[in-house]
Amino acid sequence: MPKFYITTPIYYVNDVPHIGHAYTTIAADVLARYRRLKGDDVFYLTGLDEHGQKIMEAAEKKGVAVQTHVDQMAAGFKKAWAALNISNDDFIRTTEPRHEKVVQEFFRRMKENGDVYKGEYEGWYCVPCETYWTETQLRENPKSQVSREAGPNPTAEYVCPDCGREVHKVKEETYFFRLSKYQDRLLKHFAENPDFLLPVSRRNEILSFIHQGLKDLSISRTTFNWGVPIPGDPAHVIYVWFDALINYVSALGDLQEKFWPADVHVMGKEIIRFHAVIWPCMLMSVGLPLPKKIFGHGWWTVEGKKMSKSAGNVVDPVALANEFGVDAVRYFLLREVPFGSDGDFSRESFINRFNADLANDIGNLLHRSLTMCEKYFNGVIPDPKNHKFDDLSKELVHLAEATIGDVDKALNQLAFSDALAHIWKLINLANTYIEKEAPWKVSKAGETEKLAAIIFNLLEVLRIVAILITPYMPSTGEKMLTQLNTLDLRDLAIGKKIANRKIAKGQPLFPRLETK
Ligand code: MSP
Repeated sequence: MPKFYITTPIYYVNDVPHIGHAYTTIAADVLARYRRLKGDDVFYLTGLDEHGQKIMEAAEKKGVAVQTHVDQMAAGFKKAWAALNISNDDFIRTTEPRHEKVVQEFFRRMKENGDVYKGEYEGWYCVPCETYWTETQLRENPKSQVSREAGPNPTAEYVCPDCGREVHKVKEETYFFRLSKYQDRLLKHFAENPDFLLPVSRRNEILSFIHQGLKDLSISRTTFNWGVPIPGDPAHVIYVWFDALINYVSALGDLQEKFWPADVHVMGKEIIRFHAVIWPCMLMSVGLPLPKKIFGHGWWTVEGKKMSKSAGNVVDPVALANEFGVDAVRYFLLREVPFGSDGDFSRESFINRFNADLANDIGNLLHRSLTMCEKYFNGVIPDPKNHKFDDLSKELVHLAEATIGDVDKALNQLAFSDALAHIWKLINLANTYIEKEAPWKVSKAGETEKLAAIIFNLLEVLRIVAILITPYMPSTGEKMLTQLNTLDLRDLAIGKKIANRKIAKGQPLFPRLETK
C-alpha cells in the first residue's frame, strides 16, 4: 500500500479561522480523501502554531493567561474543522510535550553537527509575520508621508516588506543556525528536483532569493519566554518559525519511519520561503530527507479587498457552511480559482456558482435521471444488452472513462479546479445526452432496449460522478450513492454491477438559491 503524507501549515492562534485557513485545510483534505479512495495509506496532518511573541501579545491584549488563550483558540479551530468535515489524522499543537521534545532534539543535533553558534543579532523584526528583516529588505512606509492618521503607526518610517506593518528594532544575544552552509546543497536539490516547489512561478522567486545569498538565521529570542526553552540555556526560547516547522516531523512520533518524508506540504504563497529555504536546510542539518513537494497556493480577497479584522470583512467559513451547506463551501473554494492563483470571494459569485453548477448541472442531472428510472423501469436500474447502444452512448461512456484518468492526473498536480472542470464536462455531456436522446420519445416509440441503455448509462455515469466528487463533497457523494443504491460500489471501473438495483430517489441535492 503506497503511503501518502500531506500537511497544512499550523495556523497561528491569535485569531479565529477564516476562509483563508479553511481553503488550505479543505484542499489538503480533498487530496487526503482522494488518496484514501485510491487505497493509499494516508496521514493528513494539520494543527496550530501556539508559541511566539504574537500569540503572547494576543493573550495579553485579551487579559488572559497565554495557556488559557491557546487552549480556547485550539478548541475553536478543532470545532471549525469538524464542521467543515475535515478528515485529518492528527492535530498537532506546538505547546504539546511531544512536540517540544522533538524541537529540543533538533536543536541538540544541529549543535552537535556544528551548525549552531552563539552571537548577537541586531536588525529588524515584524511581529505579525514573526520574521527577521535586514535594513535593506525593509520598505519605506508610504503612509508616513501621506497622513499621520493613516494607519496603526503612520509615523513608522519603515514597514515589513511582506505585510506592510510596523517593524521593531531588535538587538539581543542569540543562537544562529548556519543557513549559509547549505546554500549550494539547496540549489542542487532544486536543480535535481524540478517538482520540489510548485507552481513554477514561486520556484523562480525562491531561486532568485537563494542566489542573492543565504545569511545565517537567528533561531532564539531572549526578550520573552513563550516558547520552547533551549536545552541548557533556558534564558533563550527557540524562534517560533524554527519551532513550528518541526511540527511536520514531531507529530509523526513512532510513525516517522513510515511516513517521513512528507509527500506534500500545502500552504499559502506568503510562507513558501520558510518551507522551501529554512526547513530543507534544517532537515539537511539533522540528516533527514527533504519533503517531496511544496505547493504554495494563492490568496483570497473579499470583494476585492484584503481580508482583515480592521476592514471588518473576514469571512467565517463555518457561518457560510451553516447558511449554504458544507459541501457547497468546499466546492466553491476549490472550483472558483486554479490552485496557485489568487481568488476573490463575494456572496454573489458564490450564489451564482451554487445555482449554475450545483442546483442546475449536477442536481438536475441526478433528479431527472432517477425520475426517469422510476417512470420507465419502476425504479429498478435496467440491465442493458449493449450500453454503447449508439454513437451518443459511446461518446458518453468514453468520456466517463477518460474523466477518471483526467481527474487523477489533475489531482496529482494539485489542480483541484481542473479536476472539477473535467467532472463537470462529463455532467454536462450527460445532460446533453438526455436532451439529444429524448428518452420520452424513445419510450413512446416502444424502443425498450435503447431506453434501457440510456437510463443505465445515466445512472452509471452518476455513480462515477458521485465517487469522483466525494473527496470534495463527502456528504453529497454519499447521498448520491444512497439514492443510486450503490453505496457498496465505490470502484471506479465502468461496468454493469448497478443493474437490477432498486433506486431510492430522495430530495433534490441543491435547491436553487434566490438571487437578489
Ligand atoms: N503559523 C504560520 C505557519 C507555520 S507552518 C510551519 C502561519 N500561520 S497563519 O495562521 O498565518 O496561516 C497562514 C496560512 O493560512 C497561509 O499560508 C494559508 O495557508 C492560509 N491563509 C491565511 N489567509 C489566507 C488568505 N487570505 N487566502 C488564502 N490562504 C490564506 O503562517
